Amino acid sequence: MMTSPSPSILQVRSLAKAFGGNLVLQDVSFDVQPGEIVGLLGPNGSGKSTLLNTITGFEAIDAGEVLLQGRSIGRLPAHRIVAEGVGRTFQLPSMPTKMSVIEVAMAAAIAHHGFWGTLLGTRAAAEAEAQSRAKAQALLDELLLTPVRDLPASTLSGGQRKLLGIVCALMGEPRLLMLDEPTAGVHPNLRNDIVNALKRLNGQGMTLVVVEHDMHFIRELCTRCVVLDRGHIVASCAPAELAQNERVLQAYLGGGDKHKETV
Ligand SMILES: Nc1ncnc2c1ncn2[C@@H]1O[C@H](COP(=O)(O)OP(=O)(O)OP(=O)(O)O)[C@@H](O)[C@H]1O
Ligand SMILES: [Mg+2]
Repeated sequence: MMTSPSPSILQVRSLAKAFGGNLVLQDVSFDVQPGEIVGLLGPNGSGKSTLLNTITGFEAIDAGEVLLQGRSIGRLPAHRIVAEGVGRTFQLPSMPTKMSVIEVAMAAAIAHHGFWGTLLGTRAAAEAEAQSRAKAQALLDELLLTPVRDLPASTLSGGQRKLLGIVCALMGEPRLLMLDEPTAGVHPNLRNDIVNALKRLNGQGMTLVVVEHDMHFIRELCTRCVVLDRGHIVASCAPAELAQNERVLQAYLGGGDKHKETV
């Protein structure tokens, strides 16, 4: 009998991860459908960044499976997963000291598309570089980094590093983009710009998974939320339903009406 391909862009199946004796992720399963904007929530230390790290190949998984459009990526190295169209940003991005902001953005395109460019003729390579520079410039403009374009990337503030991390991830035009606390340390005025930029990208077909503590941001952006508590998924619901979800309230603060404001 023919089986139809899964409609999910991402399937995480019974994923487990431990550091030493610390079971950080246990039996984690969830799906993401194409076009969704999923918020990944949970208290500090619940395993959100580790989940992103395992899905994107930055940490090896101990058990379980990760499928991208039905194909297993769970044991691929990070650079192969990037090449499959999965982009990510980091909670605490570090930046090289010797490269300018725009050079970091352009290097991200090389990292995403591989080194085939070095095999091109001089003219084709120059054209590719010009295209990459134009794309980097447009993204730096959009995320308000043009004024610091030629500064060493290591001199950027924490918030600016977050923005450059988003630029770098977008240089690869991922079909699935996973963001780890994109607005932490970013000025509130700019958060709306990030929401709008992410909505626009989603409108163009990009699927998003966003780790975020800012509930205003989550409500503005996300179509669904998945909630982690001590390495287990305890809820999958619409942002508006979070405050009524007992397991979510328990996860954050042990339950009770006085805590409803948190979610
Ligand atoms: N490389 C590592 N080695 C050892 N323990 C780790 C490592 N990475 C994460 N952990 C542990 O895994 C647990 C979950 O950490 P993780 O960073 O995934 O949480 P989080 O949900 O992203 O938290 P936050 O909201 O504070 O960013 C923590 O107890 C942390 O100490
Ligand atoms: Mg984290």
